[in-house]
Amino acid sequence: MQQVNDIRRLRALLKAQAAAGRTIGFVPTMGHLHEGHLSLVRRAATQADFVVVSIFVNPLQFDRQDDLDAYPRTLEQDARLLETVGVNLLYAPEPESFYPCEPALLTRIEVPGITERLEGASRPGHFSGVATVVNRLFNLIQPDIAFFGEKDFQQLRMIEKMVEDLALPVSIMSEPTVREADGLALSSRNTRLSDTERQIAPRLHQTLTKIVEVIRLGGRDFRKLEAKGVELLQNAGFSVDYLEICRSADLQPGEPGDADLIVLVAAWLGSTRLIDNVKVRGQDLAPLLHWHDGCLNSHRPSPIIGSDVLNRGS
Ligand code: PAJ
Repeated sequence: MQQVNDIRRLRALLKAQAAAGRTIGFVPTMGHLHEGHLSLVRRAATQADFVVVSIFVNPLQFDRQDDLDAYPRTLEQDARLLETVGVNLLYAPEPESFYPCEPALLTRIEVPGITERLEGASRPGHFSGVATVVNRLFNLIQPDIAFFGEKDFQQLRMIEKMVEDLALPVSIMSEPTVREADGLALSSRNTRLSDTERQIAPRLHQTLTKIVEVIRLGGRDFRKLEAKGVELLQNAGFSVDYLEICRSADLQPGEPGDADLIVLVAAWLGSTRLIDNVKVRGQDLAPLLHWHDGCLNSHRPSPIIGSDVLNRGS
């Protein structure tokens, strides 16, 4: 694996690969790598001839200076991990030299429609920062395929739209969220959790799974389910930014009758902000059941009754 931090060398190396007819797969990251990142890299290695990973803690996408300062930076350890999973080139630019000018003067990318709600509402400027850095990285690396995790589902949808709107010559592929055995989604931020917070953290995924279970069984009062989910999380010790059942295509609020749904959550545990999501595909929905006043009315006996599902084991 080669490692570069200089734009001129990066371009020269990649030009040689493209000239040799090799396809380039790209995985952008902010480092402190874990199995979630590595699953994207492994996928890239099966899909492209030459795999590039970038590690850059992008200041533009942080809405809080303390979050940027506290973001873990473990470049040497990350480079050792990447050696084991078939990466050809690691691009880890110096923070000072990556952008050609100061942030206030930089050309920015805005992706409207998909970015105003959820993470966009909680973290002003975040998505513009992500779109701007990913667009710049795409222009520098010129990958054939780029890989993103479903863990950051709104980010994935935004990148897909940016690629379409700007006619960027890159295919976007996504990979499912990698989790700990207890369901907690792997995240570079998990190392900031105290022991007690780490014990509580899996409740986030458990709550989403329970909501999905109710929806699969016919639950259709989405706003009530969201409120119940928030209550459960608050009782467990979270402070919830949002918990929403959305249409997975455009992340607008889900309505009864929508086929492909996704439940998304962002919540604080102490000073750590965690996000997660679980999808409900149309084919998983039970057609014979329907939801009425927050209770599940089944035409056949069911072992699970409505919102009681949400109270089990909490
Ligand atoms: P980062 O948080 O480092 O994540 C890099 C990639 O890894 C993203 O596509 C993210 O969705 C994916 N990822 C993170 N945790 C995952 C998990 N548990 N399972 C599967 N994939 C996971 O996302 C960013 O960096 C930045 O916003 C970036 C796109 C690099 C732009 O700065």
